[in-house]
Amino acid sequence: MDSNKRPDTMVRITTPELANAFIDEQIAAVKAQVGDKKVLLALSGGVDSSVVAALLIKAIGKQLVCVHVNHGLMRKGESEQVIEVFQNQLDANLIYIDATDRFLDLLAGVDAPEKKRKIIGGEFIKVFDEEASKLEGISFLAQGTIYPDILESDGVKAHHNVGGLPEDMQFELVEPVKLLYKDEVRVVGKALGLPAEMVDRQPFPGPGLGVRCLGAITRDRLNALREADAILREEFDNAGLNKTVWQYFIAVPDMKSVGVKNDKRYEGWPAIIRAVNTTDAMSATIEEIPYALLHKITARITSEVEGINRVLYDLTPKPIGTIEWE
Ligand code: XMP
Repeated sequence: MDSNKRPDTMVRITTPELANAFIDEQIAAVKAQVGDKKVLLALSGGVDSSVVAALLIKAIGKQLVCVHVNHGLMRKGESEQVIEVFQNQLDANLIYIDATDRFLDLLAGVDAPEKKRKIIGGEFIKVFDEEASKLEGISFLAQGTIYPDILESDGVKAHHNVGGLPEDMQFELVEPVKLLYKDEVRVVGKALGLPAEMVDRQPFPGPGLGVRCLGAITRDRLNALREADAILREEFDNAGLNKTVWQYFIAVPDMKSVGVKNDKRYEGWPAIIRAVNTTDAMSATIEEIPYALLHKITARITSEVEGINRVLYDLTPKPIGTIEWE
């Protein structure tokens, strides 16, 4: 039987009971596969790798070694949450690598979008590979492959996800959620006790804020983007829009305009809000954010974020605009 084919008889996991049954089954399977050997996992903090980590911690505890690479392009608080949940709460064997300087130094002055993506993807593999080679006795590599990744075997995820790993790594794979759809991964994650904000996370591109800090990334503009994005997310949480809007974020272009702040000339970048709804990301419509909320977000971003002096709302559906700006 093809182990990469979801059996027709497999029931869709929609309840905690079904999730628990799946978890028990996978714990037994992972134990049988791994024995007393060690397993390595690149833990990005995204839904799939987080659920795999939580499942493997339950199955094999400290035999799992998680590596979290902070490429400096994470959203505000994300790496901190990975450490809090996996190291502090789940007592995982977690190696945290702050590689911010490596990534930002390489990206300095690079403005072509595809070149930026290539640098980020390539450097991620390098950092992870270096870390893996320092570890001894690793026999397996765990991955958060899910069923759509197998179905879309044109390599979309491999290309899209920064977590793509070197081809010459000679490890046997452990892929406990590879036959699950995304909604099932979330149900399993909840049953494993992961926090809702981790399990229900909106999609976030592998190259992270790197594709939203448009043009050549600078630390000050990246920082402004991260702070503005955090305000947008906080206000969407407060308004309950985090539960209904598919994806929302800020992009900051590499241009300045004149403004006035405290009676003085204040040059700054514009923050562009994007909030879209879609089912498959192939096409998308615009969320009708209430004007009062837009005014509030604008007031907060322009007063709280150093370097931003205007806020714009992107009303462009896909097509004609893509969801991201680069
Ligand atoms: P676009 O911009 O193509 O985005 O309309 C469609 C969906 O894909 C995500 N996206 C990416 N995800 N790496 C990723 O992992 C990327 O380089 C990338 N570019 C776009 C985007 O966030 C949206 O959900």
